[in-house]
Amino acid sequence: MTTQPQHLTILPPDLDIQRIPRHVAVIMDGNGRWAKQRNLPRIMGHQRGVDTLKDLLRCCKDWGIQALTAYAFSTENWGRPLPEVDFLMTLFERVLRREINEMIDEGVQIHFVGDLHCLPASLQAEIERAMEATQHNQKIQFVVATNYGGRREIIQACRAIATQASQGQLNPEDIDEALFERHLYTAGICDPDLLIRTSGEMRVSNFLLWQVAYAEIYVTETLWPDFDRRAFHQALLQYQQRHRRFGRL
Ligand code: FPP
Repeated sequence: MTTQPQHLTILPPDLDIQRIPRHVAVIMDGNGRWAKQRNLPRIMGHQRGVDTLKDLLRCCKDWGIQALTAYAFSTENWGRPLPEVDFLMTLFERVLRREINEMIDEGVQIHFVGDLHCLPASLQAEIERAMEATQHNQKIQFVVATNYGGRREIIQACRAIATQASQGQLNPEDIDEALFERHLYTAGICDPDLLIRTSGEMRVSNFLLWQVAYAEIYVTETLWPDFDRRAFHQALLQYQQRHRRFGRL
């Protein structure tokens, strides 16, 4: 991992501590292009992307952000070449095993969201172990969206609610936003205030469709492996210049 300049380990003074987002979500795009620019195999981009994510998590903790969600693997990513999919699954497992003790020591509470049952059994076991081992940690919530699709999440919530209604356990009149949210994978986690997408693409790509309803969106040309604390600082500066109206005047 690259070492960050000392002065960025604390909140930069030009950021308003009162207006730090509670929850930041990231679409980590551009790993393949980063590798291609260096004549490296695509997987090297993913490998480097893990270091970037690790430092961003630490930075969020250092700067007082309560939750970070990262889009690690979408329901559509199964369509990538098999060796790349296999590499990613093995990478997730390896990183979890390698980082778990540090996460415990640093107070990280890790969650995985998505359709986890389709993941390799050994990865599922590692995920379960990590979530259980960190469940009482309180410094920061780290949410990893794996085999995640926003539409699939909404459909599974609808199914669960419809089942309860059909069994007479729920009156359809009682379905409101709060009840619906309790059936999402992200139940109990506040909505993102800031959604960052690297590598310049202006798409949400089926990520947190319900949860980003009022998030500020920041797109940067920087490729994910290069998204360091300086780049994050720029994102937060721009976020703090936005006037969040939530539909009001
Ligand atoms: C998108 O870049 C990146 C991914 C699909 C994978 C991101 C995963 C990681 C960085 C690993 C995270 C690890 C853990 C344990 C949470 P791309 O391949 O689409 O890049 P391209 O658009 O340049 O091809």
